[in-house]
Amino acid sequence: MCGIVGYIGYREAYPIVLKGLQRLEYRGYDSAGIALYDDKELKVSKTKGKVVDLKEKLESEISTTGTLGMGHTRWATHGVPNDVNSHPHLSNSGNLVIVHNGIIENYESLKKELTSRGYTFHSDTDTEVLVNLIEDVIKKENVKLGKAVQIALNQTVGAYAIAVFDKTKPNEIVVARLGSPLAIGVGNEEYFIASDASPFIEFTNNAIYLEDGEMAVVRRNKGVKVRKIKDDSLVDPYIQELQLNLEQIEKNGFDHFMLKEIYEQPSAITDTYRGRLLVDDGIIRMAGVDDNLERFLNAKRIVIVACGTSWHAGLVAEYVFEDLARIPVEVEYASEFRYRNPIINSDDVVIAISQSGETADTMAAIKLAKEKGAFVFGVCNVVGSSISRETNAGAYTHAGPEIGVASTKAFTTQITVLTLIALKLAKAKGSISNSDFHMHLRELETIPQKVEESLKSNEHIQKVAFKYKDARNCLYLGRGFNFPVALEGALKLKEISYIHAEGYPAAEMKHGPIALIDEEMPVVVIATRKGHYEKVVSNIQEIKSRQGKIIGIVTEGDTSVRELADYVIEVPDTIEALTPLITTIPLQLLSYHIAVMLGKNVDQPRNLAKSVTVE
Ligand code: F6R
Repeated sequence: MCGIVGYIGYREAYPIVLKGLQRLEYRGYDSAGIALYDDKELKVSKTKGKVVDLKEKLESEISTTGTLGMGHTRWATHGVPNDVNSHPHLSNSGNLVIVHNGIIENYESLKKELTSRGYTFHSDTDTEVLVNLIEDVIKKENVKLGKAVQIALNQTVGAYAIAVFDKTKPNEIVVARLGSPLAIGVGNEEYFIASDASPFIEFTNNAIYLEDGEMAVVRRNKGVKVRKIKDDSLVDPYIQELQLNLEQIEKNGFDHFMLKEIYEQPSAITDTYRGRLLVDDGIIRMAGVDDNLERFLNAKRIVIVACGTSWHAGLVAEYVFEDLARIPVEVEYASEFRYRNPIINSDDVVIAISQSGETADTMAAIKLAKEKGAFVFGVCNVVGSSISRETNAGAYTHAGPEIGVASTKAFTTQITVLTLIALKLAKAKGSISNSDFHMHLRELETIPQKVEESLKSNEHIQKVAFKYKDARNCLYLGRGFNFPVALEGALKLKEISYIHAEGYPAAEMKHGPIALIDEEMPVVVIATRKGHYEKVVSNIQEIKSRQGKIIGIVTEGDTSVRELADYVIEVPDTIEALTPLITTIPLQLLSYHIAVMLGKNVDQPRNLAKSVTVE
C-alpha cells in the first residue's frame, strides 16, 4: 500500500517521478504528492485524489524543474485522505522531506515526546512524526542524514519503506525498508527509487532490492552504500538484472488493465507451465519441489495460508491436492492463522500464496510457521518479492505484472502452479495411475486454448452484464472444485462494481441463502458437466421455482441447464480438476462489464490497493 518514487541524477526529476507515480497508483490512490529540489528551492505539491489531480494542481502551483525529486501515492492508514495528510511530509525546519509506505506503530508515544520538546505537527500521520524524529536526531547527535535515519528507525516499531532527503544537502537520498518493498534503479550517474521497478524500467535494467532491515545512502554520481539498520554493518549490494519490459506494464490498446490481464491468461498460463510441464516425457520439473521432495512426501498435511483471491486459489488447491495426491490440506486466511495460536508441526508443509509477495498478513503467517519448524513453500508472482525471499523454497507463477487491482491472471496461474505440484506429488506417491497422470498432463496443456475459446463469449457476456447491471445483490453457486470459483466470482463482482455478492456451495443454499431468492435476484450457477452435474441441476430447479434469475456457466452443448436458465454462458469441456481454470473466465468478464457499465473505476476500485502491506 502506498507507492513511493524518487530520482537523483542529471535529468529533470518531475516527469520521471510523475510517470512513476502513475505506474505505482495500483498501490494506493486516495492522495498523491511530489517534492522537487532545483538547486535553489524546495517545492512541494500534494493533493487528495489521484495522480492526474496532482498533475493539474502541481503544474499550476510550482515550477517543475529540479534533478532531485520524490513522490508518493497514498492508501490512507493514519488520518483521512486530504491534502495535509498526503505525502511528502516536511520536518519542522522545512529542510527534511520524507515519503513513507507502511505504519509506524509507536508513533503516538514518539509524537508525545517530540511535542514536549517543542515540535509541532500539521497532519494526523505517523510519517510526519518520523521525519521530525530524524530531524531531532540530527540536532541532538550532530550526525549526517544517513546516520540520523538509522538512529531514528531503531527507535521505531512498525513497517516502512522510506525515502528522505535534506534540501541543504541535495546530493543524496536516504532510503530504508522493513516490511515494505523498496527497489533502487542503478543508472549511469543517476539513481531511481521506487516501491517496484516499474517506474524506472525504461531507464535502467539494473536494480538493487533492499532486504528487510537494510538502508541505503544513494549519492548523486557517487553510488549506493547499503547498511543494516540494526548494527550499521555494510552490505555488499546485489545488482539484479530486471526481466521486466515496458509493454508488460502498459495497457496495449485495452481500455483497462483488468481486461488486458483477463485476455493475457492463455499466454500467462502457458508461461506458468513452460519448462515445467514436459508432456511427452511425462515429467513435471519444478526445482523448488524437486529439491524438497522428501519434505513434501513426508508431510502429514499441507496448510495453505493466503488472503483474498489467493486464498480462493488455495481452496481450489485443497480439492486438487486431496483428490490427486491424497495429502490432507487445510486452507487458512493468513490473518486468522497468525493470531490464533495454530498447531503447526515440523512435519507440516505450509504453502503461502501471494500475487504481490508483499501481503503483510501472509508474511506474518509465514514467519510464524517457520518459527514452529514448518517447511514453508511460496507461490508468488512478483519475482524477488518479500514473501518469495522469506519462504524456504517456492515456485513463481510467471504471470507477468498484474496491475488491475482486481486479481485475474494471478488466480489462474496460481491454480496452474498448485495443480502442477499436486500432480507431481501424486506421481511420486503413486496415488495417481500412470494413465491418469499422463491424461492430466495432456489436458493441462490444452487449457490455454480452452481459455482462449472461453474469451470468445465476451460479447454475449456483455449482453448478460447489461441485463443484470442494476441488480443490488447477486448469488454465485458452485460445487466441488467450482465452489471456490463461486467465491472468487462473487469477490470480483463486489470489489469492482460494489454490488453485494455472495458465493456459496450450491447445496448450502437451502440452509439459509435460499431465503434471499426472488424475481430480483440473479444467481450465477457453475454447472459444468463434470462434477455433480445432476445435483447442480436440482439446485437450479430450486432457484427456478422461487423465480430467481439464473445465469448458468455450462459445458458446450449443454441442453438441460439451457432449458431452465435465463442465460447460459458456454465453456469448453475439460477434466473436473481443471474446470476452475475455465469457469473463472466468464465470471471475470461478467464483473468487468457490469463495472464498466456502471461507470466504476475498474482498475482502481474505491478503498482498495493492490498490495496490502498493512495488517
Ligand atoms: C482481489 C484481490 C485481493 C488479493 C489479496 C491478496 O481481486 O486482488 O483479494 O488477492 O489482497 O493479495 P496477494 O495475492 O498479493 O497476497
